[in-house]
Amino acid sequence: MSNPDTVPFHLAGAFAPVHEERTDVELEVIGEIPADLRGTYVRNGPNPRTGRSPAWFAGEGMLHGVRLEGGRARWYRNRWIAGACPPNTSVVRHAGRILALVETRSPVEVTAELETVGPYDFGGALGGAMTAHPKICPRTGELLFFSNGPSRPHLTYYRADAAGRVVHRAAIEVPAMTFMHDFAITERYVIFYVLPVLLGDVRSPVPIRWDDDFPARFGVLPRDGGDEDMRWFDVAPCTISHTVNAFEEGDTIVLDAVRAPRIMMPHALHRFTFDLSSGRAAETALDPRFLDFPRVHPAVVGARHRRAYTIELCDFGADGSFSRTTARQHDLETGAAVVHDFGDDAMPGECVVAPRPGSDAEDDAWVILFVHRRDGSATELVVLDASRFASPPVARVRLPCRAPLGLHGEWLPDLAA
Ligand SMILES: [Fe+2]
Repeated sequence: MSNPDTVPFHLAGAFAPVHEERTDVELEVIGEIPADLRGTYVRNGPNPRTGRSPAWFAGEGMLHGVRLEGGRARWYRNRWIAGACPPNTSVVRHAGRILALVETRSPVEVTAELETVGPYDFGGALGGAMTAHPKICPRTGELLFFSNGPSRPHLTYYRADAAGRVVHRAAIEVPAMTFMHDFAITERYVIFYVLPVLLGDVRSPVPIRWDDDFPARFGVLPRDGGDEDMRWFDVAPCTISHTVNAFEEGDTIVLDAVRAPRIMMPHALHRFTFDLSSGRAAETALDPRFLDFPRVHPAVVGARHRRAYTIELCDFGADGSFSRTTARQHDLETGAAVVHDFGDDAMPGECVVAPRPGSDAEDDAWVILFVHRRDGSATELVVLDASRFASPPVARVRLPCRAPLGLHGEWLPDLAA
């Protein structure tokens, strides 16, 4: 591990795994944590126990949490998720349960203090793996998600009610298991991406392959529909890493996503439209930069959004590496974007939006993220004001130790008593 020339990017610098679990209380804060900001920021990411792994996505999952309450940063905790196959990708809280997720396995439930409870399968209703990108509908409180797997029917769609009970399940006919990392919802529909990225050599660190003969299609399904209700839309061959958001505009569905024309190529912000009357799809590029980790305000999921947050991945290498990032706030009505400058020495991770309690306005919110030193020497939790994204942070919480640059986080606000 000592020679930087032989260490793969995902084990070095800001990405390097940590080797211990810690609990630290009363953290140093620069600035002022808003008193309204009560809850826990939790972030998942690969952190191989041995310190080594063949690819960034291969390490055991570790959660990092920072508890904000009463204008103070009460604690920092980091915990490996326990078990044989610890999910390393994301976190969701639904119906009082906090679930750690990875798309190849079923979820693992954890406590508010990040201790592992154990595997969770929705009372036996979940038959296999679960996407790491389920969607919580802000209007109904439902959790919508899917399972994607190597055996038929490959794709299964699930809808759980606000109490966490699976109330709808539909097997969807697709020709093969494709790489399907994310999907989208609108008020009445769910949208699946069945694209020419198929399973490749499972021994490879990145076991996917491009198939020129596999048609690229998006499937639009009513939320309570089955396979027979699916409307398929042909699109130009592409791959999608993450959804920004989707919404309905009359008979048209608008989907913003992060798209690339092939695998192992930079992704960029892209808008698709699906006309349910004519059956036609159209698409347009929104921003040509290499962007990913898109997020929107949780109150606009499935509804019209104006704001999106992304991370620009800079100095992209052939091995999938990147050594610089910037955090951006997009205004998708004007096409403008604002960059928050954390300095050349900093690598911001994914932004999450923490609404101001009692407000659903996109800009009446805070943006929370981890910002890592590029050399891996330190990490801060940063709170920005969404209405003044480029302004200096409202607060910076110095973590007592470094945390690796990871994958997806979530803000878990305290629920009203
Ligand atoms: Fe993801």
